[in-house]
Amino acid sequence: MTSPTTNTTAQAADPLQAYLDRGLRNYWYPVAPSWQVANAPIGLTRLGDQIVLWRDKEGLVHALEDRCPHRGARLSLGWNLGGSVACWYHGIEVDGSGTVQRVPAVSACPLEGTKCVKSYPVQEKAGAIFLWFGDDAHKEPAPLVLPEELVGDEYSNFLCMSHWKCNYQYAIDNVMDPMHGAYLHATSHSMAEGDKQADMRVRKTDTGLMFEKVGQRDVNFDWVELGETGTLWMRLAIPYRKKFGPGGSFGIVGIAVPVDEDNCQVYFWRTRKVSGWQRDAWRFLYRNRLEGLHWAVLEQDRYVLESMAPNARNHEFLYQHDVGMTRVRRMLRQRAQQDVAALEAFNAEKAQAAASPDAAHAGHSHA
Ligand code: FES
Ligand SMILES: [Fe+2]
Repeated sequence: MTSPTTNTTAQAADPLQAYLDRGLRNYWYPVAPSWQVANAPIGLTRLGDQIVLWRDKEGLVHALEDRCPHRGARLSLGWNLGGSVACWYHGIEVDGSGTVQRVPAVSACPLEGTKCVKSYPVQEKAGAIFLWFGDDAHKEPAPLVLPEELVGDEYSNFLCMSHWKCNYQYAIDNVMDPMHGAYLHATSHSMAEGDKQADMRVRKTDTGLMFEKVGQRDVNFDWVELGETGTLWMRLAIPYRKKFGPGGSFGIVGIAVPVDEDNCQVYFWRTRKVSGWQRDAWRFLYRNRLEGLHWAVLEQDRYVLESMAPNARNHEFLYQHDVGMTRVRRMLRQRAQQDVAALEAFNAEKAQAAASPDAAHAGHSHA
């Protein structure tokens, strides 16, 4: 099966697209479900970065670039010492801030006390580990505000995570496209009803935009919202049939996480506004019956996306119901533009500071 890979020729001509293809920085992204980070350090790739994660004795998760400062062995192959990780190759110990604490193979090594490994700010929320992927101009993380379905008491949720062999932009396109519900998922447990045709409209919200069918709501996949609150999330709801127990619609909050140019991870929290015994009933039903049905739907999405034509996004004929997707693409491109401009300004300032007489004097002492 050919995966919808990105077009390298187009990338050379369009550096903004090349940046977008690797993944937008300056957001929080979930990188692993909480259960995946236990005692042993784990190594993973997100936004093209190789990262090691481990959990200390207090339960706090630390994240560093997965590269030993000595000779570049993977720190994720090493040992969890609690506050630090020890390289398997020659034992260097690096703490969560990226500072070398100990170089056991030599005495008084100048590396000791040096902060020379990149570290990532970490937050654990809604059953997932979020890292801040700031570039040099945005090292300070933005506040991470998650939709109420993930943090509010009235809601209950299950986190479902999947690896898709396609660029993350296809995953965003897919969620920003409610019309596919009535076709791709037409035989599913939840999306068999409603019109096969719709006029769609976009409206702004406080945190992003809402894309919805005109004249049909609470029948099928009829609306989707995109929000930007320190992370880039999408939200939608599909009505549950009566037999799926008490409580409100079946909600989804999704975040598409770039792995590399041809792979992504999708985090879908499946949510329902239920409390008390009704919550217990939904959680029981979900585990025993609904989860399998929901997975079958998600697999249909994965199957279509992973088998799209090569460079599908470069050869399209879009029409009216694609307008939400187009708006989001434009918005992400704007973000890319802003990021690239901010980084250029930051680097120019740094270069200027380095070239100024004071800095030059401090930098070159001719003893
Ligand atoms: S490569 Fe890690 S201690 Fe040598
Ligand atoms: Fe879908």
